[in-house]
Order: sequence, then structure tokens, then C-alpha cells
Amino acid sequence: MKKLLASLFAVALLVGCGTATSEGTPATTETETTTTEASGDAKTYNVGVAIYQFDDNFMTLYRNEIESYFKTLETDAVKYNVTIVDGKNDMAEQSNQIDNFITQGMDVIILNLVQTSSADAIIDKVVGAGIPLVLINREPLGEDGDESYKGILDNPTVCYVGADARQSGTFQGEIIAELPDKGDLNGDGKVSYIMIEGDPENIDAQYRTTYSIKALEEAIAVECLDDQVGNWAQAKGQEITANALSQYGDKIEVVFCNNDAMALGAAAAITAAGRKVGENIYLVGVDALDECQEMVKNGEMTGTVLNDHIGQSHTAVDVAVKALNGEAMDNYYWVDYVKVTK
Ligand code: GAL
Repeated sequence: MKKLLASLFAVALLVGCGTATSEGTPATTETETTTTEASGDAKTYNVGVAIYQFDDNFMTLYRNEIESYFKTLETDAVKYNVTIVDGKNDMAEQSNQIDNFITQGMDVIILNLVQTSSADAIIDKVVGAGIPLVLINREPLGEDGDESYKGILDNPTVCYVGADARQSGTFQGEIIAELPDKGDLNGDGKVSYIMIEGDPENIDAQYRTTYSIKALEEAIAVECLDDQVGNWAQAKGQEITANALSQYGDKIEVVFCNNDAMALGAAAAITAAGRKVGENIYLVGVDALDECQEMVKNGEMTGTVLNDHIGQSHTAVDVAVKALNGEAMDNYYWVDYVKVTK
């Protein structure tokens, strides 16, 4: 099974236009927050939560839910002193934040890595300090693909909580493949698309890019007109789509976005270019942000895929609490995606 996953992964990385380029880092607007007052007689646990970047629509929902879910678990006897810090998409900054968490004597750390390539260095520090570590959202991949990262397998106090991005990509491709015209608006027998990718180091971006097209290709031939990196950001999604629409015009039948923030930008560019989703272009994203669910309902987006921030944040917190109670944790915890269409 592991071998199969590894070869699927290798194939996956070969698919796509291969023209993606990395762009700048979005600005950050928020700073550190500390929540939940410690109280007199209760046992208070210190929880450090490090988020890769506060300026990210999906991770904002996720971190807010971590904070509020911890609150709901408090009793007269147990309190959680939760400190959430903004890595500002800067690995050096996040590494310092982890050092601070260790110095501050956190009882557990929940970590959304800036760069998964730094996973080992961070795991070593945190395990060395004897603190349980729950990795979230950005999965460090082992040599055999998913569920094989040595730093996780070898350390009983380290785990990963996430969603399998292959599933979200497949759902995106299926949303288009299941349309009456399979996305082929001009009836030339193939679907011409543009792809807007998240951070290229991120496995979510790689898998969504690959598996969306793989699923669509099972139904119809495809042609990639453009493939660009939008770093999960709405403004980049808008800029890339606007440029592609002016370069390729009516040739573009589908805009695939690795997330909804970029799809929101794409939708604005589509409207500005006088095109209409559902009539002469299709648009899909991932996350199912509230505004995108509304747009799917109104026909302004063809579909999206629910990235269950509630399921993921609650699982991460439940696992952290297990660790605080001295219970064993599994290596990996998975939460399903859900297809969202009209
Ligand atoms: C993805 C999500 C994106 C972005 C990214 C950050 O799972 O779909 O919107 O938040 O995580 O790593």
C-alpha cells in the first residue's frame, strides 16, 4: 500500500502545466494573542499554538475554532491558557516562537508549520523538551508519501491532524466532470483550463493541482493554458485570473483554484472581464468559506470542497487534551473533505 501511494505521488507531481512560479508573501495584519484567563484553584494547562500566518482566510477560521473549542472544554477543575502566535509566513520567526514556547514551559504545542522542510528541526526541539506536539494543516511527507514521516512515526508524542488533499483535488475534478458538458463549453472535445496554485511547497497545493486534473481526465481530454502560484491569496487569484483572461479570452473554460480565497479573487476578475460563471466559464475552489457557499448557491461559483476546519480543529484539540492527560496518541488523524455543489 505504501509503495502504491509512493508511485501515485510520483506520478502526481509530474501532472500539470509545470509553469508555476512562486510569488511574494501576503502582508500580515495581526499579532500575538493570549486567551483564556488562568484561574485560582483549577489546574491550568499552558497551550502554545503556532499558526503559519494569521493573514489566511481558512487558517483564521481554524485558529478561532481552536480557541473557542478549548474554552468549551474548561471546567471548574481544568483551565486552558491558550497562546496563539502568528508565524508571519517566516520560518525563522516561527522557530523563535517555538523556542519561546519551550522556555515558557508550554504543556502541549499545536503547530501549523510555515515550511514542512523544517519539520525535523522543530520536532527535535519540542521532543527534546519533553512537550507533546500536534502538527496541523501542513503535512510533512515521508519517503513513502502519506503516513510515513519518520519524525512522526518514531516519536510517540508527535502526531499529525489533517485532511487528505488528494480527496479535495479529486472532488474538484469530479465537480467539473459531472457537469452536463463535462466542462467543455465550446464543444471542441477538450476542457481548456487555468490552474491557480497555493504555496508550491505545500502538499495541499501539489495534490489539489494534480488530483483535480486526474479526475477530470478520466471523463474528458484536458488542456492546461496556464498554471500560476497565487500563494492562497485572494489578490493574487484575481491578478492571475485577470491576466489569463486577457491573454486567453474565451479559450478558458474552467478556472481551478487550490483554495476559495483565490477563487474569490478569480470570481471578481471573471465578472470584470464580462464573463459569467455557469454560462461561459466554470470556477471551482476548496475550503467552502461561507461567502463561497453563498456563491455556489447563487451560481457565481460552480462548486467548492468543504475543508472541515471545525472537524480538524476539534480533533487537534482533543488529541492535545489526550496528550495532556498522559494518554497515548495515534500517529495520524484524518478528517474528510465534502463536495459542495448547488
Ligand atoms: C489549506 C487551505 C488553504 C490555506 C492552506 C494553508 O488546507 O485550503 O486555504 O489555508 O491550507 O496551509
